Amino acid sequence: MSILKIGVIGAGSISQSHLNAYAANKEVEIYAICDLNEQRAADAAKKYGATKVYTDYNELLANPDIVAVSVCTWNNTHAKISKAAVEAGKHVLVEKPLCRTVEEALDLQKAVRAAGKVLQVGFVRRYDPNAQMLRKFVENGDIGEIYYAKASSLRRLGNPGGWFSDIERSGGGPLIDIGVHVIDLCWYMMGKPKVKSVSGNTYRKLGNRSNIQNLSFYQAADYDAEKNTVEDMTNALIRFENGASLLVDVSFTLHAKKDEGAVKLYGTKGGLEIDPEVSIVTEKHDTIINITPQVNTLGFDFGRAFQAEIDHFIQCVKSGNDPLSPVEDGLEIMKILCGIYESAEKGEEIHF
Ligand SMILES: NC(=O)c1ccc[n+]([C@@H]2O[C@H](COP(=O)([O-])OP(=O)(O)OC[C@H]3O[C@@H](n4cnc5c(N)ncnc54)[C@H](O)[C@@H]3O)[C@@H](O)[C@H]2O)c1
Repeated sequence: MSILKIGVIGAGSISQSHLNAYAANKEVEIYAICDLNEQRAADAAKKYGATKVYTDYNELLANPDIVAVSVCTWNNTHAKISKAAVEAGKHVLVEKPLCRTVEEALDLQKAVRAAGKVLQVGFVRRYDPNAQMLRKFVENGDIGEIYYAKASSLRRLGNPGGWFSDIERSGGGPLIDIGVHVIDLCWYMMGKPKVKSVSGNTYRKLGNRSNIQNLSFYQAADYDAEKNTVEDMTNALIRFENGASLLVDVSFTLHAKKDEGAVKLYGTKGGLEIDPEVSIVTEKHDTIINITPQVNTLGFDFGRAFQAEIDHFIQCVKSGNDPLSPVEDGLEIMKILCGIYESAEKGEEIHF
């Protein structure tokens, strides 16, 4: 069995999850790390035993020994780096969101198809064993036709600052950062229906609330509260061509009593809850029953999902199979996200 040499581009917060999972995968060697911040790349290389350290991703991509890369950089560089990577013959696991705009996504899709390389989008929620377990119930018809889904990812305090709150580098606020996860999860569980229209609202009412003390929150590796050009919260209604709909609300900050994560799907034969804990609802012999699957963790297990995502990527690289979350799905989600921002800006529903 040949060991695949892996490069990780971007050595900030989320790269740790990629690196931990690669380190636990016996078929790979963490070979190269790249970051604009040389010390950060060097520290990660030391910790994970990587041979090469780069500050320019083009140099990493020019190394013929590297077979595949994880792209864990700011959103504005995802498309550019991923495109350069597939064109350099590398397989790519790119963090969510795929990029910032539909144009970038289309251009990247073209490059991936031309290069014939694997590009997996880091929609980590799909890889959670609980999501895969529930997906079997959907595929086997136990839930019937899913016609309504509802997802909330509300942080009362959690604008990560730095590049996350600079719209030029992030492409947007909580919608593109955390909304992307729950929108994708619902869309995937619903069987990836074609989007028909979206209607959204964005709000910039509270700022980043960097004044708040005594409560900690997720921060970018280079936290900086100076610049904040993204929304505080977004809500949206997404309609699909099959008549199904998805209602979403997400925030970086909100005067809420506590953080709230809820993902629920409703079908003609049953319902599913994923967040905060998995549950199946149905009816039998004229009685409503709530079923609690007996699984290791009822909630979302970040580490386990990341391991499954990385292991799947390596399997695809070795087999040449299409990933569970291909570039085409990244593009569809970009259409939804960008449509919601456009709808909010224009104050009207956007039709596709
Ligand atoms: N899957 C998840 O649950 C999850 C969670 C957090 C972040 N993310 C995604 O991961 C990506 C990174 O987020 P983060 O939280 O790690 O941010 P971060 O700010 O902590 O780290 C980003 C790193 O990328 C480096 N970088 C930026 N541009 C670069 C370039 N051109 N070349 C080399 N290095 C570059 C920065 O110097 C920084 O060290 C984002 O796209 C984000 O949306 C995903």
